[in-house]
Amino acid sequence: MNDQLIIFDTTLRDGEQSPGASMTRDEKLRIARQLERMKVDVIEAGFAAASNGDFEAVRAVAEAIKDSRICSLARANENDIRRAGEAIRPAAQSRIHTFIATSPIHMEKKLRMSPDEVVEAAVKAIGWAREYTDDVEFSAEDAGRSEIDFLCRIFEQVIKAGATTINVPDTVGYNIPEQFAATIRTLIERVPNSDKVIWSVHCHNDLGLAVANSLAAVRAGARQVECTINGLGERAGNASLEEVVMAVRTRKDVYQCDTRIDTTHIVPASKLVSGITGFPVQPNKAIVGANAFAHESGIHQDGVLKHRETYEIMRAEDVGWTANKLVMGKHSGRNAFRSRLLELGVVIESEEQLNSAFARFKALADKKHEIFDEDLQALMSDDSSEPKEHFRLVSSAFHSETGESPCARVTLSVGGREEKVESSGSGPVDAAFKAIESIASSGAELLLYSVNAITTGTDAQGEVTVRLSKDGRVVNGQGADTDIIVASAKAYLNALNKLQSNTERLNPQV
Ligand code: KIV
Ligand code: ZN
Repeated sequence: MNDQLIIFDTTLRDGEQSPGASMTRDEKLRIARQLERMKVDVIEAGFAAASNGDFEAVRAVAEAIKDSRICSLARANENDIRRAGEAIRPAAQSRIHTFIATSPIHMEKKLRMSPDEVVEAAVKAIGWAREYTDDVEFSAEDAGRSEIDFLCRIFEQVIKAGATTINVPDTVGYNIPEQFAATIRTLIERVPNSDKVIWSVHCHNDLGLAVANSLAAVRAGARQVECTINGLGERAGNASLEEVVMAVRTRKDVYQCDTRIDTTHIVPASKLVSGITGFPVQPNKAIVGANAFAHESGIHQDGVLKHRETYEIMRAEDVGWTANKLVMGKHSGRNAFRSRLLELGVVIESEEQLNSAFARFKALADKKHEIFDEDLQALMSDDSSEPKEHFRLVSSAFHSETGESPCARVTLSVGGREEKVESSGSGPVDAAFKAIESIASSGAELLLYSVNAITTGTDAQGEVTVRLSKDGRVVNGQGADTDIIVASAKAYLNALNKLQSNTERLNPQV
């Protein structure tokens, strides 16, 4: 049996379907580059027909990424498939992933199509997709609640039409491991030419079983797992990439296969996705939670000190946990700065971008003695001082004193014109947001505000996420600074700038 397990990452598509996790084109590019560095085999970059913004994002990822295959999702209709085909055209390696629902409840109540019509639509879809690429994946949406005979029938037909990967999604997270494994085994046994395609699974986590179901399917012969960083995804999320990858690597004796993933990039990927989406990682989350390798009890600490494997089945450094690495200080030069960014995989697009980042680095080094990799990454994500931004923080002052009402004085550049305002609030952050709102008058609703220390120490930068909602659009803004009130103001302005940009999403039903 083939011993490579293909890792198909759908953080940028299914992950983005988590309410509040929408990402800009540039954020998707940053995540895609990290996935490529990790050696993810297939990156599902989005759903090109969903909106112009989604199309542009898929295309940008297809242009930028060379070492992973780039895929776009498409419903089984001609328009979706042609949009997907156009979006992935620049990719060095491409895939179209088309799907249609196959469960009785979805066919009857949602699609209002007969089983014959569903088979016909699926077969036609594969034909259109093959005009663009010879790597075509077919998904039977809600396969987890579909009849096995019907699945065998539709899979036989789409393989005949040219599908190369057959994906079996547990769309609503209803399956349990033994049952799901039996489904995969039966399909591989019964579908003609099953040995000519890769069998894939896509499990949702509604019962907390997404990873267990995916792994059970691997034991039954599946050789592609669809997953996301931090288990992000629709409702309770998808199978988490880091858990699937580390389970297979740690228990090769059981799974008899392995992935190509460079696991040392896992923790940076988790932090990147968490920072961009504003979805914190729970401390006790396997692999990437802050406590995943922390030993609290004396007995455990004693055991680990005597012999690490007494209580550890994986090494923290193998998944990318490193002690904060001191990289630079205020005397570091421009060349050292540029090469460290390159080593971190940060792409600098122009001399102006480098100059502006270097100026920000010097300003940070004046405030903070030791600059770590995490600081550099936050610095590069922070475009709040870019002149192209509609709203930009020019200067600020905050006052907070026992018995006094906290107040904020803020000067903003709005489309290049400076405006000054002073506001009070229940705390300095509240005062800062009120001051900004009194200039911007966005009327947006604040859905989330969270602060995280990027590194350790009281001089660490605070990284703030602000989630705003307006007219049905939800955006996340980020800001980092050694002063958390300034970081908060930057995050709020970053979110306002995203609302300002006109990337409408149509959000079709998936
Ligand atoms: O959950 C699901 O069924 C999906 C498909 C589009 C693969 O996301
Ligand atoms: Zn899904």
